[in-house]
Amino acid sequence: MSENVRWGIIGLGNIARNFVKDLALVKEAQIYAAASRNLEKAKGFTEEYNIPNAFGSYKELLECKEVDVVYIATPHTSHCELSIMAMEHGKHVLCEKPMGINRAEVEKMIAAAQENKVFLMEALWSRFNPSIRKVKQMVDSGDIGPLAYLHADFAFYALDRDFEGRVLNPKLAGGSLLDIGIYPIFLSYLLLGKPDQILSTSNFHDNGAEVQTSMIFKYPNAQAILYSGFTSRSEMKAEISGEKGTIYIPPRWHEAQGYTVEINGEKEEFSMPTTGRGYFYEIKEVHACLDQGKLESSLWSHRNSLDLITLMDTVRKQNGIAFPFEE
Ligand SMILES: NC(=O)c1ccc[n+]([C@@H]2O[C@H](COP(=O)([O-])OP(=O)(O)OC[C@H]3O[C@@H](n4cnc5c(N)ncnc54)[C@H](OP(=O)(O)O)[C@@H]3O)[C@@H](O)[C@H]2O)c1
Repeated sequence: MSENVRWGIIGLGNIARNFVKDLALVKEAQIYAAASRNLEKAKGFTEEYNIPNAFGSYKELLECKEVDVVYIATPHTSHCELSIMAMEHGKHVLCEKPMGINRAEVEKMIAAAQENKVFLMEALWSRFNPSIRKVKQMVDSGDIGPLAYLHADFAFYALDRDFEGRVLNPKLAGGSLLDIGIYPIFLSYLLLGKPDQILSTSNFHDNGAEVQTSMIFKYPNAQAILYSGFTSRSEMKAEISGEKGTIYIPPRWHEAQGYTVEINGEKEEFSMPTTGRGYFYEIKEVHACLDQGKLESSLWSHRNSLDLITLMDTVRKQNGIAFPFEE
């Protein structure tokens, strides 16, 4: 990149904190502003991370002419509205996953990107992780033969959390599927594409939040076994098995720091530590796309986000995962 890209951060919660630490590692990135619904909170955040401008409303940041790209880090339920608002203000957008809570929202967001001629990408950071990129390359070039079996999970115990918080609150589209089930689904989609059939089952908490979902994605010559849950931890090691060999991505696979290849009983480990937590790579992708005048990434395209949300819509429909505001 020849010029600095000026970033604005919207919604100053957990992920925003992790993200700005990686943003600070990207040479061409300037963290220009941060916005919260509360000015004092925004000031605290900007002081802590040495950011020059604090706003007490999201709208003020969107009206700030100097901001080039907005990173949306609010609960799932506001991704669509805030991204569209940002794009209507001429901003490029990197929106946290899931891009929207259903296909209709993602379609609206993509239409807004096209109408306003701005860049839009879902912050599906695992797609840009160097180990996961390498694994995809190996699978695509047939190193382990045609894929037959994939196992990926993502779970941690969360039932001791605040039921009003975004993770467990159905009013904020809480539940394991959209929050963390998105990762195993992503891996299966990345390596095997769209399944012919999905079998799935969910368990719910008394407050209506979906807290466990198991899925089988059936392909003509392969099956993927996928899981997300808040009721216990799981190992979070991915296993990708073909006719000739297997690739293991050690825990936590979605933020991989390397992988292991096993062919003919011989195991070889490869270490690929990430720069920062790993958000670094999606930020670099945004910059590369802007530099080339692209309105979407070819590594994680609008079509990819649409396919991903459609798979999640199918699982939701099969199991009655509905949110109160959709009824
Ligand atoms: N890529 C990743 O690794 C990763 C990891 C975790 C989460 N995420 C995604 O990032 C998004 C945010 O997750 P998080 O864990 O950062 O959540 P969080 O800690 O609850 O923070 C969300 C922030 O959104 C703002 N907000 C706006 N409307 C809100 C509302 N009605 N209720 C609560 N907060 C509201 C708040 O910021 P202000 O008070 O400053 O306005 C809040 O601090 C989610 O969509 C999640 O899927 C991604």
